[in-house]
Amino acid sequence: MCGISAYIGKKDAAGVVLECLKKLEYRGYDSWGIVALRGSTGSSPGSSFSVIKRIGKIGGVNSSYLKEAIGEDSRIAIGHTRWATHGGVTEQNAHPHFDCKKQFAVAHNGIIENYQELKEGLLAKGHIFSSQTDTEIIPHLIEEAATTAKDFPEAVREASKLLKGKSAFVAVSASLSQIAVVRKGSPLIIGVNEGDNSEFYVASDINAFLEYTNKVMYLDDNELAVIDGGVKFFSISTGNEVAKRVVQIDWHPGTAHKGSYNHFLIKEIMEQKDTLAKAINQDDVKILTVAELIKSAFGTFFVGCGTAGKVCMAGEYLFSKIARKHVNSVVASEFSNYQHYLTNKTLMVAISQSGETADVLEAIDTAKSKGVKVISLLNVFGSTMMRVSDDFFMVNAGAERAVVSTKATTAQLAVLTLLAYATAGKLQEGKLLLINASAAVNDMLNPRYDEHIRKLAGLLAVRKETFIIGRGLNYPIALEAAIKLQETCYMHAQGFAGGELKHGPLALIEEGTPCIAIVANDETKSDIISNAMEVKSRGGFIIGISPQNNEVFDYWLRVPDAGNASPIVNIIPVQILAYHLAVLKGCDPDYPRNLAKSVTVK
Ligand code: G6P
Repeated sequence: MCGISAYIGKKDAAGVVLECLKKLEYRGYDSWGIVALRGSTGSSPGSSFSVIKRIGKIGGVNSSYLKEAIGEDSRIAIGHTRWATHGGVTEQNAHPHFDCKKQFAVAHNGIIENYQELKEGLLAKGHIFSSQTDTEIIPHLIEEAATTAKDFPEAVREASKLLKGKSAFVAVSASLSQIAVVRKGSPLIIGVNEGDNSEFYVASDINAFLEYTNKVMYLDDNELAVIDGGVKFFSISTGNEVAKRVVQIDWHPGTAHKGSYNHFLIKEIMEQKDTLAKAINQDDVKILTVAELIKSAFGTFFVGCGTAGKVCMAGEYLFSKIARKHVNSVVASEFSNYQHYLTNKTLMVAISQSGETADVLEAIDTAKSKGVKVISLLNVFGSTMMRVSDDFFMVNAGAERAVVSTKATTAQLAVLTLLAYATAGKLQEGKLLLINASAAVNDMLNPRYDEHIRKLAGLLAVRKETFIIGRGLNYPIALEAAIKLQETCYMHAQGFAGGELKHGPLALIEEGTPCIAIVANDETKSDIISNAMEVKSRGGFIIGISPQNNEVFDYWLRVPDAGNASPIVNIIPVQILAYHLAVLKGCDPDYPRNLAKSVTVK
């Protein structure tokens, strides 16, 4: 979690870092901070830091506010937007952090697993800490190493060698025009504009600086980059220089502005009018090649976290139903339990919007150590997962800014459905099905539909809990629907397989308890209707998501009859409901409390 940004060049560095951090806010939005090098506008190096740290989101901060706090323009700055792990949400705990004499500043992402032990050692040497973070040990370690190291980069390298766990950080010295960049398991990418006015950007993902440059240099794990007039890369363990090349990124995430919408969430929900069509616009040869891999693999694992984990589970059902092929879906954080079944004939399909989720990356590491081939389904180009996978598909949903995933989810479902049809030898049939589903979603997402769901939100806003039931292809969608309601409006929402209700949850149903029944027009229909009846007989208020109305429904949310694409169309009304519930309950639909879009810690 957390977003890091840094800049060195001819522009106003703090202003650039501010704009880059705004694009990284999805990684954490508890608090933020920027440090600029005072006196770094001239040819002589700066001599002290200007600092701003604030609690809350960076999104609304404008450059004049920043300038007032930071003062004169600078050529070097580093910044951070935080998702708290160690230490509460306070200005003291906001990054960047400093050493005792404020010679070094550090912004960090990740977790230092051995920080207590390192901190004890530093305390014994007389270092004084002013935060509760694990990060603060880094500037103190640099301070300590600087007493013997030949220069600043060497001190940073020595300090980095001591850190255990996955992390990445940028460090600056108050007396040098240099930025040190360290990657040890968490992402950091360098953007480059070379030439007379050479300038360098550092960020946790390329989106942050794509509007300034599309030329990047990738830092690999356990490497240190030193940036001043140019950039050099070194191995952290040996100190040897590592050769790198500049890569041009010819990809753009699309617009990331709210346009006429009040929130990214509703804008991204509505974008599903187009994104499904873009998702299925895949290279046939590649789809068929991966389908062959799935057919011939000795065990296929679909692996993801959170919403992507539910997509994996939907994949298991889609492959069973469409391709008659057994695949395993596993939550990434549990994947290591399956390592004994992995061989070099196993296939992993990793599904991730960001391509940076720590648990998925760790699962990939485990898989690769056993010789497993890894294919990823991603939405962010240039992500770590893209680089560590054997091959990847882009789901083409465009920049997804709301923490609550919507258009990326349906795009992932569409690509998996296509893969299932390809595995069944029916790629064209699958394409046609999805093209029709995409057109039906386009029709469905109209203002009247939105208003009908907003009215339902008015009825549900006073309720403390909601149950969601589904069967077959739509059982994973019931689980995903629960996530949507939990994230947006902090309602206790739980999804169940319809048949499981009578084994416990039914005891929770009282007069008026809302229960969303996802009723696809397939072989599960009569059974799920019976389950809805069981809830209604105990006083439950049934909201039916279905192509046809039914007497058991107290409130009907009509969806197109999309056949095997029903998971895609059925989640959309819940996304809209979740949005309106958030607005009605005064929650921020784009930035749910305690969450972040990209979870880069275990
Ligand atoms: C976070 C996000 C979820 C997402 C999950 C996995 O929890 O809030 O929306 O599903 O991470 O993220 P990924 O980028 O791997 O899809």
